[in-house]
Amino acid sequence: MNLSPINPNDALDITHALYAGTTGSCKSVATQKIGLISATDQVAFWDLYGQYKGKEFLGRKVRTYTTLKGFLMALHAGRKTKQGFKIAFTPNNPPKKKALIRELFLKVCGIVWAMGNGKHPKTLHFIAEEINRVTVSSGDEDSIYGEILEAGRKFNIMCHSVTQRLAPIPNTVIAMSGYKWIGRQDSVGDAERVAKEIQLKPADIMSLAKFKDEKGTHHEYYFKGTGFNNTVRNEFVFKNAA
Ligand SMILES: Nc1ncnc2c1ncn2[C@@H]1O[C@H](COP(=O)(O)OP(=O)(O)OP(=O)(O)O)[C@@H](O)[C@H]1O
Ligand SMILES: [Mg+2]
Repeated sequence: MNLSPINPNDALDITHALYAGTTGSCKSVATQKIGLISATDQVAFWDLYGQYKGKEFLGRKVRTYTTLKGFLMALHAGRKTKQGFKIAFTPNNPPKKKALIRELFLKVCGIVWAMGNGKHPKTLHFIAEEINRVTVSSGDEDSIYGEILEAGRKFNIMCHSVTQRLAPIPNTVIAMSGYKWIGRQDSVGDAERVAKEIQLKPADIMSLAKFKDEKGTHHEYYFKGTGFNNTVRNEFVFKNAA
């Protein structure tokens, strides 16, 4: 089994994505609804607290593995095919200390990195939930996670970084994630960190709201595609229970 990705392919056109917002702002909803991942895609998850355990993602059952070996074997088998899969890693007893959580996360990143193949017919999507809990600097992400963000594209890996906070996360994540989904923020520092990047004022981001009316519960967000001058304001609406 390879420990390094194979077939670097500069012709691949892949842009990573960042989803940032306070708890309950619809980040996880956005990973499914914003249209960057489809039901038939190959998706790997870093899911420390098991939010996908026994659940579906885009209508497909997520298979959760509690050991690195199980996760590796499942991904390896999945990548040998052209079929879609949804494979998550959730440890049985997640470590409590941040340094240990990071160590585990980087091992998972190493496994995902090794599954890269620039000639594979399918992109490998990697959803990294709550990256604010596994990153340690707001500067460079000098690790295998940074490697995925900087060189994953060539190996057909698309990284989806999900975070509750913006101020403390690495520049590498912000700069390398061309797609930015920004939901409600709780702190001025978080709004300021990303406003310029999506060509808005911090006040625009602070105006994002959650509200209820006769149509249902609205969760407002901004979404920026690749390139410039293309940030749009939109919302998810969940109908009120009958
Ligand atoms: N199908 C649905 N119907 C109604 N409400 C929903 C549905 N799916 C999600 N929600 C609501 O949308 C909100 C946001 O959910 P989501 O799990 O995406 O938040 P999040 O930003 O990922 O939060 P966290 O940081 O805690 O993971 C929650 O209040 C949830 O109850
Ligand atoms: Mg979530």
